[in-house]
Amino acid sequence: MMMNDSAPFLRLSKMRLTAPLRTLTSPRILPDLQHMVYPVFLVPGTRKKIQIQAMPGQFRYSVDRLESELAPLIQKGLASVILFGVVDDRAKHDDARAARDPKGIVPQAIQILRRAFPQLIVMTDVCICAYTTHGHCGVLNPEGHIQHDATRPILADIALTHAQAGAHVVAPSAMIDGQISAIRDTLEAHGLHETILMAYSTKFASAFYGPFREAAGSAPKVGDRKAYQCDALNVRAALLESALDETEGADILMVKPALAYLDVIAQLRQMTQLPIAAYNVSGEYAMICATAERGWGDCDALALESLTAMHRAGADFIISYWANQIF
Ligand code: PBG
Repeated sequence: MMMNDSAPFLRLSKMRLTAPLRTLTSPRILPDLQHMVYPVFLVPGTRKKIQIQAMPGQFRYSVDRLESELAPLIQKGLASVILFGVVDDRAKHDDARAARDPKGIVPQAIQILRRAFPQLIVMTDVCICAYTTHGHCGVLNPEGHIQHDATRPILADIALTHAQAGAHVVAPSAMIDGQISAIRDTLEAHGLHETILMAYSTKFASAFYGPFREAAGSAPKVGDRKAYQCDALNVRAALLESALDETEGADILMVKPALAYLDVIAQLRQMTQLPIAAYNVSGEYAMICATAERGWGDCDALALESLTAMHRAGADFIISYWANQIF
């Protein structure tokens, strides 16, 4: 390196002096709506817009509200939504049959959104926890253990229902062994060659899902999800889950939660050439909302800084509740 007496070091800061300079010299994308997926909670009925207590600014909507509620966001450039169905307790069964109803709220919403917003990428969450009486993501045996083999065909059926209704992307979040190949085979067998499979591939058992479970009514009635979701201490096993999902035919991998697992995003980035999604989960959102509410920090700045960190770690796009708040 060339040095002289008046500048005995490289003045790297000059590259950050103006916004155009920073943009020009940054290898990373900025958080923006073009790289964001907005989670949408759907409830049965009509004209419903129900505030989610632990997530200020987030609501559960009946499908008839979707078009008018989402139009402004989509006008601003929102790339995608991911849909979560929330059913009444009466519609919950141990085999999650409401999740497979082709006339259910998720298929209805897919059809409405595809018709109303041709550019919007429509994703769906594929899981049974919000549709079962016990609130776990798989079928249970009498001991309360998840039955992976019995759950796979159910998940494949749900994914098929969503794909046939027109979902561009189906996203299994159950952490069931072999779920990706089961869904891929089912989609292929039905000629659904264009349906994208986004795996919640490295999904940790996390305390940061609390507010979501209120929103989706999906908290387990007994126990926790540690027997099937990844262990925060075991990064190797967590990365192996993503590697396996890639070999099973996933098109997009995911790390979830995001903020407490930036190192995992960065490691996964080194391992794969597939796109990586980060799920900026409900607890990460609620934490910043609560801080801002008390006047202990600037909401938009905190949100943007955390989204920036996720991109910097290596996420290509982010699933985030901030989509309707800060852009
Ligand atoms: C369903 C599912 C969960 C989330 C997304 N899909 C909850 C869970 O695994 O308990 C969490 C999303 C969030 O916290 O924002 N399995």
